[in-house]
Amino acid sequence: MERVQLPGGIEMSRIVYGMWRVGEDADTSPAHVRAKIDACLEQGITTIDQADIYGGYTAEAILGECFKENKGLRDQLEVVTKCGIVAPTGRYADARVKHYDTSRSHIEQSIENSLRDMSIDHIDLLLIHRPDPLMDHHETGAALDDAVKSGKVRAVGVSNFRPWDWLLLQSAMETPLATNQIELSLVAHESFVNGDLAGLQSKGIHPMAWSPLGGGSLFNAGELRETVSRIALQNGVDEAAVAIAWLLAHPVGILPVMGTNTIDRIKAFSDAFKVEMDRQTWFELYTAALGREVA
Ligand SMILES: NC(=O)c1ccc[n+]([C@@H]2O[C@H](COP(=O)([O-])OP(=O)(O)OC[C@H]3O[C@@H](n4cnc5c(N)ncnc54)[C@H](OP(=O)(O)O)[C@@H]3O)[C@@H](O)[C@H]2O)c1
Repeated sequence: MERVQLPGGIEMSRIVYGMWRVGEDADTSPAHVRAKIDACLEQGITTIDQADIYGGYTAEAILGECFKENKGLRDQLEVVTKCGIVAPTGRYADARVKHYDTSRSHIEQSIENSLRDMSIDHIDLLLIHRPDPLMDHHETGAALDDAVKSGKVRAVGVSNFRPWDWLLLQSAMETPLATNQIELSLVAHESFVNGDLAGLQSKGIHPMAWSPLGGGSLFNAGELRETVSRIALQNGVDEAAVAIAWLLAHPVGILPVMGTNTIDRIKAFSDAFKVEMDRQTWFELYTAALGREVA
């Protein structure tokens, strides 16, 4: 598995395993979570994506139980997590409205919650989950810088930021932002042309791609699925591998964050590297995704 260096000095696997859906699995036992992580490790996938809010603030603890029962496992992984969304559930049940909070106190408290819930002593990469219209970039930037200085967080980044949100926050920080985790897939491809990827590419930043299979919607019937299926058949891989190869082919160096709970599907993640994705194949898929040929 390819490894990728991010600004701030951390290294991650090119394919990342996301745990948004870990609590939806019928089996959330430490042994089953371990089996999913082992299926990743067998392919060299060492980076796990979390967020405090996943599972209504419960997903980090599901991973934490697995770490408690499997000493040394955490040290084989890079743990990414996010903070900044406050939904009126779980520990924030008394919030009147779902909102964003990028204040220093919220970031500091979120780090403590994530460390405790995952039973770890540092976070490898902490992301601000969503752009916050009330973000005071000086306060948020200093809080992130201090989080890195404290050693509780090794690197920091953002998620769902537009280029101007990135520039605003970075302008008030000493630490380089490591990545922007955005929605990217054959069913969410606006970022390829709206400046999101261009902005990152110009700075040499590797984006992380969330819902790289459109959260499963890629498999809805239609011309796109037929095209994906045909190319999958030609390459002797499953459809997911083709959709991921399409992302991997972009010169910005996308890190897809996969979300399946199915172990056999996890085992096939690296098949994406087997797909022949030349320029015309890429555009065949893009054409099917757009529903029209490019101008
Ligand atoms: N930063 C953000 O704002 C943000 C937002 C959303 C997600 N994320 C991150 O991105 C990760 C991935 O998101 P996602 O779960 O929506 O990703 P995804 O990989 O696009 O979708 C996974 C879903 O597709 C289903 N699926 C159906 N057929 C499949 C097939 N052939 N192969 C693989 N999956 C298939 C899976 O079902 P089964 O489980 O039944 O296989 C699962 O429900 C999350 O875990 C999270 O870490 C971040």
